[in-house]
Amino acid sequence: MKRLVHLLWLPALLAAAAAAATISPSPTGDMTGAGRCAECHPSAYAVWQASAHRKANEALPAERRADPRCTQCHGGNQPSQAGVQCETCHGAGLVYAKTHVMKDRELSHLVGLLDPKEDSCRRCHNDTTPAIRPYEHSRMWSAITHGREKARP
Ligand code: HEC
Ligand code: HEC
Ligand code: HEC
Ligand code: HEC
Repeated sequence: MKRLVHLLWLPALLAAAAAAATISPSPTGDMTGAGRCAECHPSAYAVWQASAHRKANEALPAERRADPRCTQCHGGNQPSQAGVQCETCHGAGLVYAKTHVMKDRELSHLVGLLDPKEDSCRRCHNDTTPAIRPYEHSRMWSAITHGREKARP
């Protein structure tokens, strides 16, 4: 009986997984840009402004700034997609970056807000990337720590 119940659940689980897959890492087209986040998260924005992530596209040689082999990690060169954006880590925010959505934890996550963890850093900081020292999450995260302050409504 238990087994049958599992089998009955399977299609629902698969449908949920498919739905989640279409919601989570949205294409860059749904990005609004760090300037929008800055309106309500000024201190997170200040940290990002000063970070290497903001300049990640500029770090590329001029002829590589639109090359998808590089922009997949260094970000694009269009204003709302330049460098490694807030939304590269937190999910594309065109839909969630509104007060009534952001205040509702469940809703904001349903429409694309992600909780980035170490594995999300490692999709770019890995064995294939040039680094003097191997990636150490505590050291690297402490260099860009942000987000504890309460957001401006
Ligand atoms: C209109 C204001 C506003 C804008 C714009 C905005 N936020 Fe928020 N955000 C909030 C509020 C309010 C909260 C609720 C929690 C709080 O008060 O700190 C929140 C919460 C969050 C959280 C924490 C969610 C959690 O798990 O508790 C993250 C992450 C976040 N915002 C990221 C972003 C990013 C990235 C952008 C830009 C794409 C953005 N926000 C744009 C107002 C805003
Ligand atoms: C898998 C992700 C990834 C890809 C793809 C990638 N990079 Fe990088 N790149 C990184 C990371 C992460 C760093 C920073 C490493 C560190 O400092 O710890 C970096 C650093 C660099 C730096 C040094 C930047 C500086 O300020 O010192 C240059 C230059 C660079 N990459 C060029 C390129 C070029 C050109 C391409 C495309 C041919 C490319 N990268 C593709 C992830 C990537
Ligand atoms: C390189 C990836 C990355 C970038 C870029 C980034 N963040 Fe974050 N952010 C994180 C991580 C990781 C956390 C910590 C999540 C945790 O504590 O588990 C976080 C936490 C936060 C929080 C607090 C969430 C909470 O649960 O309390 C807010 C708000 C936030 N970020 C907003 C922003 C904004 C706004 C920007 C751009 C100006 C930005 N972040 C850029 C990775 C990033
Ligand atoms: C989309 C790809 C991407 C993601 C995701 C990403 N990074 Fe980066 N990160 C880069 C690139 C590219 C650089 C190099 C930029 C440059 O040097 O101009 C970089 C640089 C850095 C630097 C500066 C390194 C130095 O030696 O000065 C720190 C610190 C950092 N990242 C931490 C993190 C952390 C922590 C996370 C996860 C919360 C994260 N990154 C997620 C692409 C990424």
